[in-house]
Amino acid sequence: MVVTAIKGTETFNADIAPRQIRLVTSEPVGFPDPAKARVAVIGLGYVGLPLTLGFAKASRAIGFDINESKVEQLKSGIDFTGEVTNSELLAADAEFTTDVTMLADADVIIVCVPTPVNSHNRPDYGPLIAASKSIGKNMKRGAVVVFESTVDPGTTEDRCLPVIELHSGMKEGLDFHLGYSPERINPADPTRKLPDIKKIVAGSTPAGTEFLEKLYSRVIMAGLFPAASIRVAEAAKILENTQRDVNIALMNQMMMLFDKMGIRSTDVIAAAGSKWNFHHYRPGLVGGHCIAVDPYFLVDAGRRHGLAMELVASARAVNEQTPHYLVEKLEELMPPSRHGLDGKKVLVLGRSFKEDCPDTRNSKTYPLMDALWNRGVEVCNFDPVAFDDHFEGGRGAKIIDDPAANGPYDAIIATLAHTCFRQQFDAATLQSLAHKHAPLIDMRGNFEAVDVTDWFTYWRP
Ligand SMILES: NC(=O)c1ccc[n+]([C@@H]2O[C@H](COP(=O)([O-])OP(=O)(O)OC[C@H]3O[C@@H](n4cnc5c(N)ncnc54)[C@H](O)[C@@H]3O)[C@@H](O)[C@H]2O)c1
Repeated sequence: MVVTAIKGTETFNADIAPRQIRLVTSEPVGFPDPAKARVAVIGLGYVGLPLTLGFAKASRAIGFDINESKVEQLKSGIDFTGEVTNSELLAADAEFTTDVTMLADADVIIVCVPTPVNSHNRPDYGPLIAASKSIGKNMKRGAVVVFESTVDPGTTEDRCLPVIELHSGMKEGLDFHLGYSPERINPADPTRKLPDIKKIVAGSTPAGTEFLEKLYSRVIMAGLFPAASIRVAEAAKILENTQRDVNIALMNQMMMLFDKMGIRSTDVIAAAGSKWNFHHYRPGLVGGHCIAVDPYFLVDAGRRHGLAMELVASARAVNEQTPHYLVEKLEELMPPSRHGLDGKKVLVLGRSFKEDCPDTRNSKTYPLMDALWNRGVEVCNFDPVAFDDHFEGGRGAKIIDDPAANGPYDAIIATLAHTCFRQQFDAATLQSLAHKHAPLIDMRGNFEAVDVTDWFTYWRP
């Protein structure tokens, strides 16, 4: 048996030293049995939790997270993301833990940690690097490491892999395997759950891709798409999200122009949509952890490759501008008797970033409320769906649980079409909340079917 030493390990300082400086054999390790492989998931959020439960059906799965209170909640059957039910959680053969050494028991380690941007909209690879260190320090020889977090192409192999190798003293392809499989779940969508969405998989070798196809067929019923490489799989996911962002930005910009022309973009979209190849995107506030963030990774990647990603960057700028357009619109709609925004009281319906989803991260209702507050508005915000795990301010905004108790309002802005809003607010209820002729900005057409035009100055895109 040929034996090779891992080079250079002696030079590492204590903080970054591999857990063991060791000799490894040059015999490449094989893959575990995909049908029985024990899976550990790192990061138990919107992506990682349903995945852990999916894998727990075949054999006991490990769910690791650094957030102690989240792990305690999961152990007691509570999932604030609303993606899995209390009974599913309690019935699952899954061990939720903050003990990172449990990764050593896993045959497969799947990384589902956040990939946010910093305050300058530059990628923050911190959680990925931290997870890679945890893997490197704890995984066993023969493990398969799969990244699911959305990243720009090259991140898995060029940023994460070196950290894993550094901290494990092991070599990819020889001692462990690497893969990437982007997550495509659509939170708050009851019709498309994890098993129903076709999944892209890519290993660093054809054998690796084949292993991932077999592994993920344990949880995905909609089929698997083997991508040509890890980089292709990374690029595919970020393209999907950027395509949405750019298209919604187009709709937002057209909405602003059409509005200035006195044309309602909903009517335009209905008319244009009568053509077979028209793509149905609607104007809206683009927030959240994915669509409003991932394109910045591409802008940054473009910078590194000497390419200005102008279209992608402009689309982001338009979508970031949209909340401010609504503030201008509100000012324009104020009745002459109560013109101006200073000192007015406005009810904002909706705080999460998306319909029927509790996630408030990077919700564009926050900049909307900030902009109103900066104009001297007293902002009351009502959203019974939102769960503020990451409360982001809205600074002067008052979070309320009873709109009637805080009215009457000078205007109402509905940023989202939560199902409960349509159930809770009929014409009479809405009317009771606001002064006559108050503007009602209905971004997603919540109240189109409700006859509110007698009382309100109604506007929707
Ligand atoms: N939410 C979505 O709809 C969605 C869809 C597809 C892809 N994605 C991508 O999947 C990834 C995860 O997104 P999410 O929405 O599930 O995030 P999330 O914030 O809901 O969950 C991430 C979890 O990772 C944990 N975590 C952070 N750093 C960690 C570390 N070093 N070790 C262990 N745990 C750690 C956090 O405590 C958190 O519980 C992101 O890259 C995102 O872009 C998200």
